[in-house]
Amino acid sequence: MPAPESLKTLLLSRNDVASLLTMEATLAAVEAAFLAHGRGEVQMPSKVYLSFEAEGGDLRAMPAYAAGAAGVKWVNSHPHNPERFGLPSVMGLYILSDPETAFPLAVMDATLITAMRTGAAAAVASKFLARSAPRTVGFVGCGVQSRYLLDAHRAVYGKSFEVLAADVSAEASARFAGEVGGRAVSLEEASGCDIVCTSTPCRAPVVMRGWLRPGAHVNAIGADAHGKQELDPAILRDARVVIDDWAQATESGEVNVPLHDGSFTREAIHATLGEVIAGKRPGREQADLTVFDSTGLAVQDVAVARVLHDAARARGVGTAFDLLSLSR
Ligand SMILES: NC(=O)c1ccc[n+]([C@@H]2O[C@H](COP(=O)([O-])OP(=O)(O)OC[C@H]3O[C@@H](n4cnc5c(N)ncnc54)[C@H](O)[C@@H]3O)[C@@H](O)[C@H]2O)c1
Repeated sequence: MPAPESLKTLLLSRNDVASLLTMEATLAAVEAAFLAHGRGEVQMPSKVYLSFEAEGGDLRAMPAYAAGAAGVKWVNSHPHNPERFGLPSVMGLYILSDPETAFPLAVMDATLITAMRTGAAAAVASKFLARSAPRTVGFVGCGVQSRYLLDAHRAVYGKSFEVLAADVSAEASARFAGEVGGRAVSLEEASGCDIVCTSTPCRAPVVMRGWLRPGAHVNAIGADAHGKQELDPAILRDARVVIDDWAQATESGEVNVPLHDGSFTREAIHATLGEVIAGKRPGREQADLTVFDSTGLAVQDVAVARVLHDAARARGVGTAFDLLSLSR
């Protein structure tokens, strides 16, 4: 007796995910996930890390339960993958389970989910914290993530802003600028935009306080593990700092290094983004500078994975697989 379709696990490749997921749907799911997080309606233990010092990378497990969906992401960060192996720095796998039975509903590529939800998280932060529609958006680090940070900002603000791209690799910034119709510039110039998005794997500041323009908003995306850091600590001291999650950001976000060396304090952290979206804490107000410190939340992933699963079942996308051999 074959297992009914609903008792088959859906396998979704990256191409399946790409055919189903729009940036608009990702933005809506991510904003709703932040709101639920801010209201305390989710279960989300901190990420668990395996560090590979000899290999120069790490793997993380990220479980979450939110809005009736449960799942876990298994994702890495290996900055040397592109040049050593021709592989992306970040690759992910998602397992979505039915909270009622724990049946594995879907196993899907989470590489694209990670890139899209991270871009969306930054654009949601810009929407709630930046002054107004930007005239310029700067990208410090022009790898995979920069493309999705830009897509998400274009989905929120349209295409009228200028894109300034900077990278330690002149080839990377020229390629990105060429692809998206922007300008390859110095790190200093890209840092002087209305909105600045940093997505490098750095372990020392690459953006200096004096380079920022008054009224800027910075999305600090790259620091997502202990010891990583992209911003001059003077930026954090002068800014209204909004984090994505207390436990994760203080251990692995942009604030982790300055908190550990004493150049920044927990008391100076203003709020989580979810608290701002939920109206529990004010947003920018009169602040001259704002910084969003993103480590990446498992509730963002589970929200997007659920949207994908529902769309895939409705549209017949993906491969249904009798993983548990329920057919006889
Ligand atoms: N916060 C989150 O939710 C989240 C999600 C995904 C990735 N990340 C992190 O974002 C970072 C970037 O990820 P990616 O997938 O885009 O990686 P990537 O390897 O595709 O791109 C990184 C880019 O940074 C550039 N770079 C390195 N050192 C630099 C420096 N000193 N100055 C300027 N540019 C420099 C590289 O040349 C490269 O172009 C990683 O650290 C990753 O772990 C965070």
